[in-house]
Amino acid sequence: MTETHKPRLLTGDTPTGRLHLGHWVGSLENRVQMQKDYDCYFLIANVHAFTTRAEKPAEIHQSVIDIAIDYLAAGIDPARSTIFLQSDIPAIAEMTFFFSMLIPFPRLMRNPTIKDEIRDKGLGDNYSFGFLLYPVGQVADILVFRPDVVPVGEDQIPHIEMTREVARRFNQVYCHVDSHAEDKDQIKLGGLFPIVEAKLGRSRRLIGTGGPSPDGSLLKMSKSLNNAILLSDDPDTIKKKVMAMYTDPNRLKATDKGTVENNPLWIFHETFNPDKTWVEEAKARYREGTIGDVECKKRLVDVLVELIEPMRQRRLKYEQDLHYVKKVLQEGTAKANQVAQETLLLAKEAMRQRYY
Ligand code: TRP
Repeated sequence: MTETHKPRLLTGDTPTGRLHLGHWVGSLENRVQMQKDYDCYFLIANVHAFTTRAEKPAEIHQSVIDIAIDYLAAGIDPARSTIFLQSDIPAIAEMTFFFSMLIPFPRLMRNPTIKDEIRDKGLGDNYSFGFLLYPVGQVADILVFRPDVVPVGEDQIPHIEMTREVARRFNQVYCHVDSHAEDKDQIKLGGLFPIVEAKLGRSRRLIGTGGPSPDGSLLKMSKSLNNAILLSDDPDTIKKKVMAMYTDPNRLKATDKGTVENNPLWIFHETFNPDKTWVEEAKARYREGTIGDVECKKRLVDVLVELIEPMRQRRLKYEQDLHYVKKVLQEGTAKANQVAQETLLLAKEAMRQRYY
C-alpha cells in the first residue's frame, strides 16, 4: 500500500497541558498503532484552547509544545504522520463560518459535551460566544480533511454526531444528495463530505488516581482534577502517585476482605498489566484478604514505569531539540494545508461561491 492509498485518519487534542494515561488508553495508543495502516493527521487544537483560556496565551503556547513533544515521545512518527496546528489552517476558520449556518442554535445547546463542560469547568453563564462555536469549529477540523476514521474518546461522540449531521446537510443542500440517501452512499451520490465514524479506544474513560466525587461516582483522569499520571512522569513520581492512590477505603489491613469492583487499583491493573494471570489471581486473593494493597500497588508501579519510562526518555531528547519539534509542526501544517485548501475550494464550488 502506498501512502496515498491508505484511508485517511484525523484526530486531535486541545492543548491543556501534558498528556496522561487517560489520553494514552483513550486514543493515543490507538493512534500509534494505526499509523501503519492510515494516512494520519493529528491536529493540535490551539484555537479551541482559547475558548476557555483566552487570557493565558503563554500557557497555551507551552501546552502546544508539550503536546507536540508528547506525540513524538509516544511514538507518532512524523515521517509517516502529519502533526499540525489548527490556528494555521485558514480553511478551518472559513468553513466554520459556513458550517455554523447549517446548525440550528438550539441544537448546539443540546450538545451534552457542551453542557458537561459548562458544569465541570464552572463556566456558569459566563462562557464566551466562541466557547459555543467550538463544536462547529471541530466539525470543520474534521470535514476539511474528509477523513475515513476519527479516533476519539467517548466524550467527543456528540461532536462527531454533529459532524455527521452537518456533512449530511451540506451534501443535501449544496451537492443535491437525496435526503434519504444512506450514509455510506453520500460520496457516490455526489456529496462532498463523508459521514465520518468515531473510533473509540479500548478504555473509554480512564478514572483518576484520586477518590470518588461526593456522589460516589469515580472521577475521570484529568490534569485539572489533580488525579493524573502523566506520560512524562518519572519513576519516583509514578511511585508516589500510585502508593497514594485511592483503593478500597474499608480495607485497613492486608487480612481484611477487599472489594475489587470500582477499585481504581484493579481498574488500573486490568487496563495496564499485561500479566493477566497474575491480575486474576491477585484479585481473588484481594477479595479473600490474603494480599496487601502495598504489594499490588508496587506491581502497578512496575507496570506503569515500564510503559511510561521509554516515552519519558524520548521526551527528554526532544526537549533538548525544540528546533526539530517546531520544524515537525511547520512541515506538518504545510502538508495539512494542501488537503484543507483543496476541500475549501470544492466546498465553495458546491456552494456556488467561486467567481473567478
Ligand atoms: N475537542 C477535542 C478535545 O478536546 C480536540 C479536537 C479538536 C478534536 N478538533 C478535533 C478531536 C477534531 C478530534 C477531531 O479532546
